[in-house]
Amino acid sequence: MDLSNNTILITGGGSGIGFTLAKKFIQLNNRVIICGRNLEKLKAAKQKYPSIEIIQCDVSDEHSVETLVQEILETHPNLNFLVNNAGIMKMWNIRRETTNIREQKKEILTNFFGTVQLTQSLIPHLLGQKNSAVLNVSSGLAFVPMSAAPIYNATKAAIHSYSISIRQQLQNTAIKIFEVLPAAIETQMATDMEKIIGIENSGPKMSPEKLAELTIKGIKNDTYEIRPGMANMLYHLHRFTPSLAQNMIRKQSEKILLKL
Ligand SMILES: NC(=O)c1ccc[n+]([C@@H]2O[C@H](COP(=O)([O-])OP(=O)(O)OC[C@H]3O[C@@H](n4cnc5c(N)ncnc54)[C@H](OP(=O)(O)O)[C@@H]3O)[C@@H](O)[C@H]2O)c1
Repeated sequence: MDLSNNTILITGGGSGIGFTLAKKFIQLNNRVIICGRNLEKLKAAKQKYPSIEIIQCDVSDEHSVETLVQEILETHPNLNFLVNNAGIMKMWNIRRETTNIREQKKEILTNFFGTVQLTQSLIPHLLGQKNSAVLNVSSGLAFVPMSAAPIYNATKAAIHSYSISIRQQLQNTAIKIFEVLPAAIETQMATDMEKIIGIENSGPKMSPEKLAELTIKGIKNDTYEIRPGMANMLYHLHRFTPSLAQNMIRKQSEKILLKL
């Protein structure tokens, strides 16, 4: 896919992977709109890159997504690329009484249903564009779950499956469906997780810049399932020796669960 002169909406584009993708897309001469819950974060992103447009939106809230879609279609009729990146990750020791069902539901709505609603709402519009695309940001944990984050893994596996289904349904249309499945990336999400479990450095991580470069390379080459770095290793290990892959991640999870 040609990665210039597109109009791109990135959910969760005010920080981390979403913001880094926004920066790179701008450098490639695209118009970029970012959304997120925290308006200050969005304003700070716009201060760094004034051409970025910002819209406040909570993807876990059905009405907020409806309003976003309405605004986007009115103000950006050339929108042709949706990046479903917004996500949260929570650790749950399901044996604890403090396990919070509402927060678990929020995690599902944010990571999975937000993507479904936004994609579904924009499909009629994207079908009318000459070249269009959706990029879903899932995770290497879609292949091999880390048991300390049971809801997160399930939402990412759901995104992976959903991406395959809609790619097949939209074959031979204007819309290309991409998915990137990162392993550990140096962002606030990883730092927050380490803080919660009290581990300073939980392991090697890829920089968001490197991830964005590999993602862009994948999109340019029409690689529909982009598995950067360790995620590709995990994918192949899981394909050929699933129990080995699962045990590797399980060991990490057991250490984390002791802290929860
Ligand atoms: N970091 C990793 O190791 C890693 C690995 C694999 C996959 N991923 C995936 O990559 C994506 C980006 O994560 P990141 O590492 O860049 O984390 P991050 O730095 O925490 O960024 C997450 C972004 O999502 C936004 N967001 C969260 N909930 C939202 C909601 N309900 N509505 C709208 N925006 C929301 C946040 O902004 P607000 O707080 O302002 O809403 C924030 O800008 C996520 O889907 C994550 O699962 C990350």
